[in-house]
Amino acid sequence: MRTVTVVSIMAMGAVPGAGAAGPAQAAGLDPQTRANASTAVEGEAFAHAKYLAYGEEAARTGERRIARLFADTAWTERYDHFAAEAKLIHFVRSNVADLQESIAGEEHEATVMYPTFSRQAAAAGDRRAAALFREIAFDEADHAAAFLRALVELEV
Ligand SMILES: [Fe+2]
Ligand SMILES: [Fe+2]
Repeated sequence: MRTVTVVSIMAMGAVPGAGAAGPAQAAGLDPQTRANASTAVEGEAFAHAKYLAYGEEAARTGERRIARLFADTAWTERYDHFAAEAKLIHFVRSNVADLQESIAGEEHEATVMYPTFSRQAAAAGDRRAAALFREIAFDEADHAAAFLRALVELEV
């Protein structure tokens, strides 16, 4: 069985500044306001994905008006609400910082989150879920590696 191994990018020192202040540390906001906005952007992002998925079901079942409603609302969640809140907390910073943050996130998913989920699913007898989590862990490792390559190329 393959094992997810993401070379410890942090330990290699290939991600300068990794672990430094994240989007939630945008200057000029009360800490609670920042925390709320960070929670809100995640909710808006999820709503965007959710409404796209719901819209696909509406389209599949021939409910064109409902499909359109979900698509329009998904657009608002992403390009109005998410965008405005992201700007408020400086969610997007720079290519280097964005790649560093993304590497750390994908690495966590690949080496901690999905392997843990997979083990727990297997222990509970949910074999299909365990296999899915394991497969996705490999994808996330690939994402981390691709982002790292992009970061290295950017910085040479
Ligand atoms: Fe919203
Ligand atoms: Fe990913």
